[in-house]
Amino acid sequence: MKALVLAGGSGTRLRPFSYSMPKQLIPIANTPVLEYVVRNILDLGVNEIGIIINDRDNEIQRALGDGSQFGAQLTYIRQENPLGLAHTVAIAQDFLADDDFVMYLGDNMLPDGISDIAEEFTARRPAAHIVVCKVEDPCAFGVAELGPDGEVLRLVEKPKQPRSDLALIGVYFFTAAIHEAIAAITPSARGELEITDAIQWLVTNGADVRASDYQGYWKDTGKVADVLACNARILDGLHPGVHGTVDATSVLVGPVVVEKGARIVRSRIEGPAIIGAGTVVEDSHIGLHTSVGRDCAVTNSRLERSIVLEGASVTGVQGLHSSLVGRSASVGTTTQSTDRYRLVVGDHTQVEVAA
Ligand code: TTP
Repeated sequence: MKALVLAGGSGTRLRPFSYSMPKQLIPIANTPVLEYVVRNILDLGVNEIGIIINDRDNEIQRALGDGSQFGAQLTYIRQENPLGLAHTVAIAQDFLADDDFVMYLGDNMLPDGISDIAEEFTARRPAAHIVVCKVEDPCAFGVAELGPDGEVLRLVEKPKQPRSDLALIGVYFFTAAIHEAIAAITPSARGELEITDAIQWLVTNGADVRASDYQGYWKDTGKVADVLACNARILDGLHPGVHGTVDATSVLVGPVVVEKGARIVRSRIEGPAIIGAGTVVEDSHIGLHTSVGRDCAVTNSRLERSIVLEGASVTGVQGLHSSLVGRSASVGTTTQSTDRYRLVVGDHTQVEVAA
């Protein structure tokens, strides 16, 4: 079996971050989402992995290299425009050849792994094996109707009146039968080649298409709120460890990781929380579910349930919460009166100030 990881796309829901970085490299507990994806695939014993990237993207290649650091063999496949999930399979055909493969959306987190589903697929080898999860708002997803034995009866992309609450999540297993289906479909109203249309084509043409109801934790990290929720969930399983320095006046409560070269000075850290390599936290209070990336400076501040990316600084800010601070961004205060704010705000940025 091979794997195809989808790390292109436009990431409009994760602006402004997706303007300057691929969303699949957003860190969850200081590790990029894409690294969790690759590790889940390696856990299946699959190491030939094709990665779909944007035409303009070199950052993913710089981050993952040839994959040898993980024991993976990575092949990068450029997609000129985000023309849909099924389009990525079409452009990866040389890489995939006639092999079975797992298609994995590069912004999806499944920390409980996908081994059980891979086993189900391998045991029966249906033309396609999809993974579904019960959701509260099926209208926002591809929705599957299943028969009594897990066979797929019908798939509908973002239905107005959903006939089930089972949403397709970001992992799909295919045999080479999917290539004929993709060649047969045409772009949808939104101009994309939809993988749901290709799978529906298989169902309509009598192929065996099956589904597993995923019982583990799943999160699509396409939006800021979901990135923060997923960060909290992953931090809940944190193994504590101090690899940097914590001065005698600082207190660590609960599971806290202090990475190499980080310094905690006159501060209180309430875990689960992680402080990245080379970061300095001084005279501050870091509350639970917070990840601070590498080489950041947190000074005289209080923050919780937040992610601070590499190189950022937070100075003199009390009560920062549920926030995502971008790379090398600075958040600070002014000595001017409290009813005046000075902001340098990029496109599609969200800022909340006291009313
Ligand atoms: P989506 O999150 O559905 O699409 P998107 O990345 O365009 O984001 P948004 O809706 O916020 O604009 O894509 C799921 C995954 O598949 C994600 O990792 C990006 C990837 N992808 C591709 O690689 N190529 C594509 O043509 C599309 C549509 C998505």
